[in-house]
Amino acid sequence: TVVPVILSGGSGTRLWPKSRKAYPKQLHKLYGDMTMLQHTMKRVQQFAPPIVVCNNDQRFMVASQIAEIDSRKAEIILEPCARNTAPAIAVAAYRAKQLYANPILVVLAADHLISDLNAFHGALEQAIVAAEQERLVAFGVIPHKPETGYGYIQSENATSASGSKIVQFVEKPDLATAQSYLAAGTYTWNSGMFVFPADLLLAEVASLGGDWLAQCEASLVNAETDLDFIRLAEPEFAQCENISIDYAVMEKTPKAWMVPLDAGWSDLGSWESLWESSAKDENGNAVFGDAFIKNCTGSLIHSEDRFVAAIGLENIAIIESDDALLVVNREATQDVKYVVDWLKQQD
Ligand code: GDD
Ligand code: MG
Repeated sequence: TVVPVILSGGSGTRLWPKSRKAYPKQLHKLYGDMTMLQHTMKRVQQFAPPIVVCNNDQRFMVASQIAEIDSRKAEIILEPCARNTAPAIAVAAYRAKQLYANPILVVLAADHLISDLNAFHGALEQAIVAAEQERLVAFGVIPHKPETGYGYIQSENATSASGSKIVQFVEKPDLATAQSYLAAGTYTWNSGMFVFPADLLLAEVASLGGDWLAQCEASLVNAETDLDFIRLAEPEFAQCENISIDYAVMEKTPKAWMVPLDAGWSDLGSWESLWESSAKDENGNAVFGDAFIKNCTGSLIHSEDRFVAAIGLENIAIIESDDALLVVNREATQDVKYVVDWLKQQD
């Protein structure tokens, strides 16, 4: 059985003013008519109902967004504290094993954009075949800039559709290293999406030094069921190591396999990346919501509550929400994090 595991743990502060700690980006309608979590669920609706792992504070929003688009009973696992992706995925693996024999996990982040669904489904099929052959599969995206916010995967063949063995996995290299990887042409970006046989994943975590795994399993065994939520036991889960799946497993395992993904993937790390991935008019403007534009080029307008009019703008992003307005040069949208830092200091 193929079981989607959807990680919904981040707060995405670079997408302020939409994305907040209490209301992170994956729960917003940033593009299209569904939230990012809902888009993510739709991508894998052909499989078993998803296991969604999220933070306790967001449980009602998550549950209602799931119910809106999927009438099946989803498994919603609540983390009492954040322990990064390895414990979240391991708990989901134990849950999948309680429900099904030999589950294969399709691990997705709730806050990624994928514009070409057919291409995604093609790569997913290849990844599932590879996982059935006892491999731990990562999707690799062909890089087009020396991005230092991603992990890099060097594989035996970066373009073979059925994938190839991972030679080296480097989490977030410095700029010089990223530039050399881009020039080499044998590296892909780690998309942060994976396909894992649950048993193999747990065995690898254990053999690579994950001595926290017993605590992880105990947090599920001792979990409380509250309405439709599985509330992990706090003392046990808190004792898990705070570690990403990249560091815990993918950097070290000899079973790592890379399947290339060319599907318009973006992790939507900034408003600039939303603009990049969006359909644009003939002047390069991407417009979401109720807006009027005249003589604008290369701009992004995102309105939620109010009508926005923009005239004579060049490469400007305007993000309107009910309690804040952001106007920023499109090339500077990474710096939105400074607004968030400043606001935090005012509290
Ligand atoms: N449930 C849960 N709990 N989800 C989590 C947690 C957690 O404690 N921590 C992270 N996540 C989710 C986030 O919501 C996000 O969707 C995903 O896991 C990845 O976490 P990030 O914190 O965004 O990781 P990153 O951006 O630093 O790096 C990862 O993603 C890149 C691609 O976007 C790495 O896997 C990189 O190698 C990769 O290139
Ligand atoms: Mg990220």
